[in-house]
Order: sequence, then C-alpha cells, then structure tokens
Amino acid sequence: MAATTPSVERAGNGVRSSAALNFLKASPKKLLIGGKWVPAKSGKTFETLNPATEEVLALIAEGDKADVDEAVKAARKAFEEGPWSKMGPHERARYLFKIADLIEQNADELAELETLDNGKAKTQARAIDIAGSAETFRYYGGWCTKIYGETNPSDPSMFNYTLREPVGVCGQIIPWNFPLLMAAWKIAPALAAGNTIILKPAETTPLTSLMLAQIIQEAELPPGVVNIITGAGATGAALVAHGDVDKIAFTGSTEVGKRIQRSAAGTKKKLTLELGGKAPNIVFEDAPIDQAIEGIINGIYFNQGHVCCAGSRLFVQESIVEPVIRKLRDRIGTLRVGNPLDKNTDVGAINSQAQLDKIREMVESGVDEGAEMFQSACALPTRGFWFAPTFFTGVSQSNRIAQEEIFGPVLSILTFRTAEEAIEKANNTPYGLSAGVWTEKGSRILKMAQKLRAGVIWANTYNKFDPTSPFGGFKESGFGREGGLHGLAPYVVLS
Ligand code: NAI
Ligand code: MG
Repeated sequence: MAATTPSVERAGNGVRSSAALNFLKASPKKLLIGGKWVPAKSGKTFETLNPATEEVLALIAEGDKADVDEAVKAARKAFEEGPWSKMGPHERARYLFKIADLIEQNADELAELETLDNGKAKTQARAIDIAGSAETFRYYGGWCTKIYGETNPSDPSMFNYTLREPVGVCGQIIPWNFPLLMAAWKIAPALAAGNTIILKPAETTPLTSLMLAQIIQEAELPPGVVNIITGAGATGAALVAHGDVDKIAFTGSTEVGKRIQRSAAGTKKKLTLELGGKAPNIVFEDAPIDQAIEGIINGIYFNQGHVCCAGSRLFVQESIVEPVIRKLRDRIGTLRVGNPLDKNTDVGAINSQAQLDKIREMVESGVDEGAEMFQSACALPTRGFWFAPTFFTGVSQSNRIAQEEIFGPVLSILTFRTAEEAIEKANNTPYGLSAGVWTEKGSRILKMAQKLRAGVIWANTYNKFDPTSPFGGFKESGFGREGGLHGLAPYVVLS
C-alpha cells in the first residue's frame, strides 16, 4: 500500500490536545502482540485518513497471517499459563475498573482521535462513544465477581454442579462507525469472563483501538491478554481461519458476516454476529409529534447514519403525513453539517470514499425507481467526504432504498393506515435489528413490540443505549447479544 509520510499538523488541523497530536506522530503504528509493540512481519503499512479533509493521519502496520499466528500464540499462552487465567475475579475486576478510569482520564484525546479518524462530531464522540466505552468497562468490571455456577438438584447420592468458565481465545472484528465503543463492547465482557483476545479494528478507524491498547498497557494487564492486529478484510479473514481461535465475535456487514459463518462452519469456533439493519421507525397519529420529529432526526442523521440500528425507514400514519414531512423538511434545514471538531456541528463527514460512493449509488437508485428526494440545502465543505441530510417520499416497499442498508444520512418515508399494516410492512425486510414506535397508547406499544421482528424496540425514543441492556438482531441482522447479562453469555461455557 501507499507510504507517503503523513503531516500530522495538517491532517490534525484544529485539534487542541497535544496528546492526540503526539499520539499521531508516533507513526507507523505497530501491532500489540504478547504485550509488545511490533511492526508487521511483512513490513507493510497502510494509511488511515481524516475523512473530513482526506489527509493522511498515520501509517498503520498491516498485519497478515504470520502476525495473526503470533497473536493467537500469545493469547493462547496467556490463557493457558496465567497469570490471567489463574487470577481471582476481584483482581480481574480491578483491571477493568482501571481501564475505565484511564479512558475517562484520556477522554478528550480519545474523542479527538475518534473524530479525526472517523469524521463524527467531536461533541458526540465525547458524550457517546468515549463515555459509553468507559461505562462498558466499568459495568463488565462489576460482573467479574458475579459469574456464578450452580449446584444441580439431582439425586442426593451425587454432588452435581456446574461452573461458568471462559471460552478461551477470542477473535474480535469490529467496524468503523463506533470504533472505540465497539472495541469496548467486545473486549470488556470477554475480559470479565477471563478470556484472552485478538482484536482487529476496521481499516479506516484503527487509531482509538491503538490508544486503548496503550491504556491497557498502562493498566498493566498481563502480556498477551489483549492483542491488537490492524489491517483490512484479509487480516480479519486470517483471524477467522485460524485453527486455534475458540470464538469469533464480529460486527459489520451482513455480507462479510455470512462469509465468516461459512469460514467457521465445521470448526470448534463459537460465533456471534451483529450485522446490518433497515430499522422501521413507526409514527402513529396520536404520537407526541415534536418529540417524534426529534427522534426521527436522531434516528437517521446521528453519526451520519452510520448506525446499524438507524431508523432508516420511517412509517407515518396516513392522517399525519403532511405535517410530519413539513416539520422534517424544516428540521433538517437546521442541522449543521461540517467541521467535526466544531462544537456546534450536528452531522460530520462520511467515513470513506467507498461509503460515500455506496450512499450516492443508493440515492441514485431511489431517484431512478421513482421516489421523490428532498435534501438539506446546507453548504458542504469542498474537501473530504460529505453527504447532505436527505429523505425520500413516495417510496414503495420494493424499492432498494426501502430494502437495503444505506448506512448514510438517507431516510425513506412510507405510510400506513392501521397497526396491522405497519407491522406487516415493518417486518418486510431481511433484517431485524431494531425498531421504533411513537404513540401515546401504552397498550399499542406492547402489541407492536410483540409483533415486530427486531431485537431492540424503542418506544417514544430512539438510539438510546445502556450497558445493562442486550443488543442484537433477528434474521439477517445476526445472532448473539452484546450488553448486559446476555452479552456476557457468549464468553462463558458451562462445565
Ligand atoms: P465490512 O463488513 O467489510 O467491515 C467490518 C469489519 O470486518 C472490518 O474490520 C473489516 O476489515 C472486516 N472484514 C472485512 N472482510 C472480512 C472478512 N472476509 N473476514 C473477516 N473480517 C473482514 O464493512 P464495510 O465494507 O466497511 O462496510 C460496508 C457496508 O457494511 C456498509 O455500507 C454498511 O451497510 C455495512 N456495515 C454495517 C455495520 C454494522 O454495524 N452493522 C458496520 C459497518 C458496515
Ligand atoms: Mg480514518
């Protein structure tokens, strides 16, 4: 891959924290294997960009099969030989609490790095990604001492019991939309249960995983417990194909999820997949309308729509279509799109050229298939990857923009007359990750929640998260849950 020397000052223009800039200067970034920072054996590197300016932020080691082999060896050693595997849960908990504290102490630097690497608004990175990552480590730190076995009430002639033990060596592959938060969702429950880890961040957003690795080193986690291998899809594929990995946890596209499922079939590997979505956000005529407008806006334009549970299909009851569309049109005109480091920015940059191309292609298909497009008239920066907040009316269910994940700030608006019709239409995609319902009627919320085929259902709110709450999909949105007690389950085995 290319190897220009990045100009950190230029690429990090606007960043206030010298810690973030100093972090960037130590480039090329290395791999963390067995507690040591090492270059890729091949010597190869790749660039990570600031998508708001297209400038190169840093060169990153490109790990391949040989590096994955070393990382799995280190993780296996740490798992089998200790001290991690022999450590008591109270002590293990202290490491997770320490990591949470260090994330908080470095919150500003982490938020700046996340913003530079991903393109998201810094205020949101700080309040959601970074704060949520610290909370996740703290929450799962609490679980270390609460993973119980059972005594089974069998025939009294037997003493019959179960233990909950770690699964072993876990390969974890994460996407680019919430880079640090996805790392925390993967690493924290795995550590709480006593596993060891090889994490592969996404190729466009490796920086905060690497800073987290530094934090993990500072917390003095024993060597080999957390290993970080940077690289693209082939690096992830090498991790999935490795014979000595006990579990794979993946978040990303449904297409790659299916590939991983095929690769892991017939092996000992346990698998959890958190994949795409095309979530319905359903607004009834009795909904608190202004609150619903905010929920719709947050549901689709938050994080540039790079959200697997984004409310990307809006279903509006026919009697209120006019006012809802009018209000949405007014509201998207007030969204501030631009410099992600500006504290007033609502919508930042699209993460990559490839993602921008995909969004454009999907939007073109919407126009070609006869839907009517409305786009915010905001002025977009001339450099970088940008897309104005957009919605479509006159969408029919068979349109691609009503069926396929766009993963951008693009909303498809459809209508319904009855609750039954809303349910039928809402369930009519291959996905089933999340859904939203807006109504003042409590009984209707419960009925809808029962019939909607989705793992997470929000009522009169959207995109709300809490570390205690399980998250995951039905159908092609994947299987397994992250968060809460159920997020711990994939990392323990009964014996
Ligand atoms: P992707 O699924 O290719 O990437 C996610 C992660 O998987 C990255 O770390 C990537 O390096 C890794 N990966 C890619 N190919 C792999 C393979 N064969 N084996 C193992 N790991 C592999 O997603 P991409 O290409 O970045 O985005 C494409 C589309 O996927 C988006 O437009 C969006 O629709 C969807 N997506 C959904 C996400 C979600 O949270 N559900 C997150 C990211 C993307
Ligand atoms: Mg980047």
